[in-house]
Amino acid sequence: MTETQVQAAVEKFEALIREQNEHAERIAGQGDFVDYSTLSPIVIGVCGGDGIGPIITKESARVLEYMLADEVRAGKVVFKVIDGLTIENRVAAGKAIPDDVLEELKSCHVILKGPTTTPQAGDPWPNIESANVAMRKALDLFCNLRPVKVPEEGIDWTFFRENTEGAYAVGSKGVNVTDDLAMDFVVTTTEGTRRIAKLAYDYARRNGKERVSIVTKANVIKTTDGKFLRLCKEVGADYPEIITDEWYIDIMTAKLIDQKRRRDFKVIVLPNLYGDIITDEAAEFQGGVGTAGSANIGKKYAMFEAIHGSAPRMIREGRGQYADPCSMLRASVMLLSHIGYQKQADLLENALDICMFKEKKLQITGRDTGCTCAEFGDYVMQTVKGLCE
Ligand code: IPM
Ligand code: MG
Repeated sequence: MTETQVQAAVEKFEALIREQNEHAERIAGQGDFVDYSTLSPIVIGVCGGDGIGPIITKESARVLEYMLADEVRAGKVVFKVIDGLTIENRVAAGKAIPDDVLEELKSCHVILKGPTTTPQAGDPWPNIESANVAMRKALDLFCNLRPVKVPEEGIDWTFFRENTEGAYAVGSKGVNVTDDLAMDFVVTTTEGTRRIAKLAYDYARRNGKERVSIVTKANVIKTTDGKFLRLCKEVGADYPEIITDEWYIDIMTAKLIDQKRRRDFKVIVLPNLYGDIITDEAAEFQGGVGTAGSANIGKKYAMFEAIHGSAPRMIREGRGQYADPCSMLRASVMLLSHIGYQKQADLLENALDICMFKEKKLQITGRDTGCTCAEFGDYVMQTVKGLCE
C-alpha cells in the first residue's frame, strides 16, 4: 500500500463522515409526522418498476381505486401514475432515481411502488445504487414496517427495520483502498435510532403488544450496534408496561424456527441489514416473500411495496401475467391504514385472508396452471363486494 492510496482512502472516508453528519443533523431537527386528515386531496403515486412490477402494481392500484371509489369521486383522493423508474431509464440517467422521477414522487403524499431491478456486480447494467435504497434515503423513509402473521401457529410478528442507516447508509460508497483491501462502513445516529425505537414502542403500546425485542450483533459490532441497542433500551424505559428483551441476530434467526419460543416474539426492532435478512425468513412461514407487504414510513412521505424483487425470469419466460399480486395487495392494506382509511384497510385484509387462505377459489402458481394476476384482482374485489352485502 502506498501513502497515496492511504490518503485517497482517508479523503473518501472524510467525505462520508461529512455527508452522514449532515444526515444526522438534518433528522435531529425534523418536525412531526404529517397528518393525512388535513390533506385534500391525498395524492397516491403509482410507480410500476421493473420485471413483474408494472403488472402487480397496476393490479393493486386497480383494487385500491375500487376500495377508494367514493373518496376519488368526492375529490378526497387522487391517483397519479409515475412512469420512468425502470432499469433502462435509471441506467440512461446514470442515477438510482432519475431527477424528473424523484420530483414526481415528491409531488405525492404516499406511493405504491412495484419492485425494481437492483444491479449487482457482474450484471449487464452498471452497478448503480438500488432504487429502493435511494428512495428510502431521498424521502427519508426511516421505518420499514413488515408484519408477518400465521394465526394457526400463533405467529404475529411486526418488524420495525431501521431503513436509512446501518450497513445501507453508505453501502454503495465503500472504499477499495488497494486491489487487496476493501472496506465498507456502518452508520448509527442517535436520532436515527431513537425515532425507529419510538415508533416500535408506540406501536406496541397502541396495539397491546406486551413485548419488544431488540435485535443486534452488539457483542461483535460493538460501536454501531452497541449504540443501537443502548438507545433502544433507553427509549424502552419510557414504556414500563412493555417487556424489553435483547437478542443477537444469529440466535434470533434460529429462534424464529423454534415453535415453542417464536410465539413470544411480537414487536421486533432492528438495524437495516438484519431486518432485511430476517424479514425474508419470517415471510417464509406465512407462505413466502410473495405474500408479504412492506411499508416504508417517514415523517413527510410513505411508500408501500412488496418485499420481493422484480422476478425478471418470469418476464423472460413469458409468464408475467401469472405474477402473484398478493404482496402488493398486502402493501395496499398498509397504505389504506396509513392514510386513515382503516375501514377499507380491514375490509381488504379480510378479503385477502379469504382469497389466500380460507376459500382459495383461485390459485396463483406463477404459470398457466393457475389464474392470472388480473383474475386474482377480480376475485379479491368480488370478495370485498360480498363482504359489504
Ligand atoms: C428489501 C429488498 C431490498 C433491500 C433490495 C432490493 C435492495 O431486499 O426491500 O428487503 O435490501 O432492502
Ligand atoms: Mg430484502
